Amino acid sequence: MLVAFQDVLESAGFNVITAQNGKVALEKLDAIKPDLILSDISMPVMDGYELFEAVRQQPGGAVIPFIFLTARGTREDIFAGKSLGADDYITKPVTTRELLSAVKARIQRSDELMLAQLKAAYKDSLFVLANAIETRDSYTHAHMRRLNAYATMLAQELDWEREQIEDLEFGAILHDIGKIYVPETVLQKEGKLDDAEMADMRKHPEVGAHMIKDIPYLASATPMVLYHHERWDGDGYPEGLAGEEIPLGARVLAVADAFDAMTSNRPYRDALSPDVAFREILSCSGAQFDPEIVEALKVCWEAGRVHEILDQNNGHK
Ligand SMILES: [Fe+2]
Repeated sequence: MLVAFQDVLESAGFNVITAQNGKVALEKLDAIKPDLILSDISMPVMDGYELFEAVRQQPGGAVIPFIFLTARGTREDIFAGKSLGADDYITKPVTTRELLSAVKARIQRSDELMLAQLKAAYKDSLFVLANAIETRDSYTHAHMRRLNAYATMLAQELDWEREQIEDLEFGAILHDIGKIYVPETVLQKEGKLDDAEMADMRKHPEVGAHMIKDIPYLASATPMVLYHHERWDGDGYPEGLAGEEIPLGARVLAVADAFDAMTSNRPYRDALSPDVAFREILSCSGAQFDPEIVEALKVCWEAGRVHEILDQNNGHK
């Protein structure tokens, strides 16, 4: 059977390494990290369950997809496999097609999982970095979480695809990253900024975009960082783009950022109530903000979704 499986898998283009029992397999695993382990349960010396547990103890072993093969196929076998956390189960006799589809499906699932974990790890590290910058700016942590939540809420209302929403989240996390180059005296000034200070402040979108533009997985966030202070009527910065010239993600962030900025305390003023801030955004529809996005905000507001986000983040300013 070992030889038969090896043949089937090799003809399908896989590299196959075989072992007569769990102990031999484990020794081979010192030198190789396979993409998948396919193991019989009944084997001499070390059986499939023991091998599975030993693999999971190894560094890096916890992420290797594992498929059990059993002739028995009894309920007990299946429960034992499940309680170990077996990823999959094939019951003998197995056709070539079943074998290949189980192996391929399991590898694909593991690739997807890996990619999702990688993205989550990126997001976490970016959060840490962006929070460090936000802290200099005296408004904090909760700002980014709320901004993220508002932006995602608007994108969902606008029926965006999942990938687009993910990009938007990166944009939301990073939008003010360029403030790392704005002096603290300017960021925390209580009075009005003078012209030179204002010029410094207004550089942050370009600086931020410059910081991330060459990082491939952040490429789609770059326009959002660069254009989040543009206005629908063309009176924004850095380029004075108007209407649909402004990338959609940046227009969404502008609404989410404005709402959160108005409802948070800032060095130069106290927070406005959510109602006042909401009405302010409505009154700027078509001037500062894209009317379609303001409309989406209105729908979310009326459905109570804005308040849900506010309630979740209360007391964490
Ligand atoms: Fe900004």
